[in-house]
Amino acid sequence: MATSDQSFIVPACKMVPMKALTVIPGKAGSVEVTDVPEPPESDGEVLVETMAIGVCGTDIEIISGAYGWPPEGRNRLIIGHESLGRVLEAPKGSGFSPGDLVVGIVRRPDPVPCDNCAAGEWDFCRNGQYTERGIKSHDGYCSERYRIEAQYLVKVDPKLGTLGVLLEPASVVAKAWEQVTSTGKRALFEPKTALVTGAGPIGLLAALMGKQMGLDVYVTDQVTEGLKPELVSSLGATYHTGPITSLPHQPDVVIECTGVGSLVFDAMEHIAPGGVLCLTGVSSGGREIAVDAGLVNRTMVLENEVVVGSVNANRRHYEAGAEALAKADSRWLERLLTRHVKLESFADAFERKADDVKVVIEL
Ligand code: BGC
Repeated sequence: MATSDQSFIVPACKMVPMKALTVIPGKAGSVEVTDVPEPPESDGEVLVETMAIGVCGTDIEIISGAYGWPPEGRNRLIIGHESLGRVLEAPKGSGFSPGDLVVGIVRRPDPVPCDNCAAGEWDFCRNGQYTERGIKSHDGYCSERYRIEAQYLVKVDPKLGTLGVLLEPASVVAKAWEQVTSTGKRALFEPKTALVTGAGPIGLLAALMGKQMGLDVYVTDQVTEGLKPELVSSLGATYHTGPITSLPHQPDVVIECTGVGSLVFDAMEHIAPGGVLCLTGVSSGGREIAVDAGLVNRTMVLENEVVVGSVNANRRHYEAGAEALAKADSRWLERLLTRHVKLESFADAFERKADDVKVVIEL
């Protein structure tokens, strides 16, 4: 453990400083467990004890130095945006009581605020000045305790227990499905077949929600055996490893969860007429592929296709995500949490291993 950043000064009166997982954004190899002061009251009226943090591709990008911003005036950021915690203190009338299982919302509206942020649709922030806990200019949740405003806290059904750590990714997926259904409303849209590209946590949760909507769901990924194909078939969905062209049907909906450029264009070319392709994977860029842009344009125009990007989630999506998790088979959800790692062994959590779906850091 280290206290290497001047910006985290632990008061001498605090005999046991709080531990947090921190990183210097932009600097690879800077992730460490740091002693930090108790969370500031300015972060909110509710005090939460962190139980678990889910690791996602964004965290791996942040620790590799490719993404992330520290809070103003500091060089270290507490990471962790997928969380599960237990309320320690909450004022009367806040809607929360000690012991409640909770998840913190990631994004905060920009200070202007833009029209969307002012309306609670911060996931559609238009000026880019939003902040995100654990990602952009605001400490995350991977500390022993954190404070938060009640309006950015979501209660988790106690029956879900540790599975509540899946709520943040589930909210991102619920938003993606909302984009698909609201875009579909431009005309008669009764999708039957959905394709999900990528069998990571986002893809598997997208497949779960697609099945809950009664769709015939296909999931495509590179691996040919192991946990991912098993998870897909136990959902009642079909696992597919070949090219999109070899699917038995043209999908009405595609939820793209890999960010792989060639898959995005394959999906654009092979989606059914009137279909909606929702992009959720953030590509790293720098990889060029040859695309027949005229053909893509021609297909999209002549077949009324839509490509929609989707990021983050607002409160409505957290609520929809919570509902989807509550309806799901908890034994299936448990299988998504493939590794549980203690905070001290955080390095293990960031190492990708075969058959990893969701790695969880336990505090
Ligand atoms: C998070 C989103 C966030 C996005 C971009 C994702 O990993 O789940 O909440 O908006 O990264 O920073």
